[in-house]
Amino acid sequence: MDSTTRWSRDGITKHQEPLPVWIVALGHTLWSALYNLYFNPLRKVPGPFLSSISPIPLLLMSWSDTPHKQILALHQNYGDVVRTSPDSVSCLHATAWKEVYGHRKPGQPENLKHPGFVAEVASGIIGADTETHTHQRHLLAQAFSAQGMQRQEPLIRHHVDRLFRCFEEHCTEGRSLDLAKWFNFFSFDIIGDLSFGESFGNMARGHFHPWIATIMEFFVAQHDMAHFRRAYPLLEAMVGPLAKMFAAKIISKHNMFMRTQVAKRLALEPSRPDFIDGMKPDHAQGKEGLSLEAICHNATIFVVAGSDTTAIALAGATYLLCTHPEVLAKLKEEIDSSFDSEEQITLLSARRLRYLTAVLDETLRIYPAALGSVPRRIQRHGETVGGHFLPGGTSVDIWHWAMYHNPANFTEPEVFAPERWLGDPRFRNDKKAAFQPFSTGKRSCIGQNLAHSEIKQIMARLLWKYHVALVDREWLEKPWHDQRVRASYVRPPLNVRLILRQEKLKSD
Ligand code: HEM
Repeated sequence: MDSTTRWSRDGITKHQEPLPVWIVALGHTLWSALYNLYFNPLRKVPGPFLSSISPIPLLLMSWSDTPHKQILALHQNYGDVVRTSPDSVSCLHATAWKEVYGHRKPGQPENLKHPGFVAEVASGIIGADTETHTHQRHLLAQAFSAQGMQRQEPLIRHHVDRLFRCFEEHCTEGRSLDLAKWFNFFSFDIIGDLSFGESFGNMARGHFHPWIATIMEFFVAQHDMAHFRRAYPLLEAMVGPLAKMFAAKIISKHNMFMRTQVAKRLALEPSRPDFIDGMKPDHAQGKEGLSLEAICHNATIFVVAGSDTTAIALAGATYLLCTHPEVLAKLKEEIDSSFDSEEQITLLSARRLRYLTAVLDETLRIYPAALGSVPRRIQRHGETVGGHFLPGGTSVDIWHWAMYHNPANFTEPEVFAPERWLGDPRFRNDKKAAFQPFSTGKRSCIGQNLAHSEIKQIMARLLWKYHVALVDREWLEKPWHDQRVRASYVRPPLNVRLILRQEKLKSD
């Protein structure tokens, strides 16, 4: 019997037309809208009407140029916890980090990352299930420990010296340079060396290695796909293979490069103070290590998570200092009184500087290097977050940028004031717990110490040696860091002129 044949009451078959597709779709849409409005357990969470019945507004916002600002505006209208789609909420209250990301009691399941957001690197640390994550984090712990960093110091120093040689060349020849670009050259070079045993050679070449454009395209494509997957998981399952076919060239180019680089690194000497060392199998020692795929996925994660973020923080700090002369003067005073020569400024010695730490924290608050959200899925028993019960499966976003620009969390959030981290009573009502630029809990940033040390060493050395002057008048009139977003910030050039500090020439 074909699908259009039915038995009639008198036993004679007759042909019926199937319901037109548009009626089925309309019926489904109406039923979903009614369910989401009146029966969905999230119905009491405040939010825009359209968002409560359809994932489209959240999808369009995520694909727009200003998702960070739009999410903040939503919270200012609807409060701390906002329903952003039928099964998603966004939180902007200071304790949200602890409630959603915090360490769990024994036996309590974790709120795992939304699988749609980590699909491309599923075997790596960032999307691993609880057990695999603990195992991978354990293997990587040594490379990211204080001891590991001490072993990496000569390798890192080599790249920092290279960056300063480039600065010197520009300075001697009286040429300006785009610091945003140079910080990116530097941070990719260093992560290349720590992840593959080979720098990308950006600084030597004065332009990006061709593969970096591929990985950046990969990052943006992955971001767009992730939001689509969250909005329409079934549709994604249908059109995903098609989308992959179009993206296949980028993905296979990326995978081939990754495999070649990782294989080259694995063939190097048995031990090298880098990120791969802890993950690779060591049969002589009976160590299993990780699979080649897991190592490749982690190497991708290191490059994406560790390069651009560091460069964003460095460029942001430089710009904010150039436009806040009183902060710059105070910081120079601290640096000058701490070091007699450029050589004294190391990864470890720069970490001690208290005012520099406050400048970096304030930079990451105003211009967080990781600005968005990697949503979590509430574990199967559900959780109470911001006073609302969220059932298992709810997707929860916490946006860094919006959290730090929320006046409910920070007094005068648009003002760059490192003093807020040093006990200034003007900022006594700030909710410090809201500030988690490296995330929190067991999945917080493993590279936090490395990032802090690198950034502080470079900032201290830059300001010890040079006066930094902005070249483009435009950025004196409007904020350079108020940028359009496409997975991360779309950064315009930050052209500066570096002028040697005469007094340092004498003392060095
Ligand atoms: C200013 C610099 C940096 C910032 C602001 C930053 C921020 C973050 C944040 C917010 C997360 C959590 C992401 C999530 O929820 O999925 C994270 C995770 C991570 N970061 Fe960073 N990061 C920085 C530098 C680095 C560096 C230098 C590395 C070194 C390779 C690194 C490696 C990682 C890794 C491997 C994870 C995943 C950790 C895990 O899942 O256990 N990051 N980072």
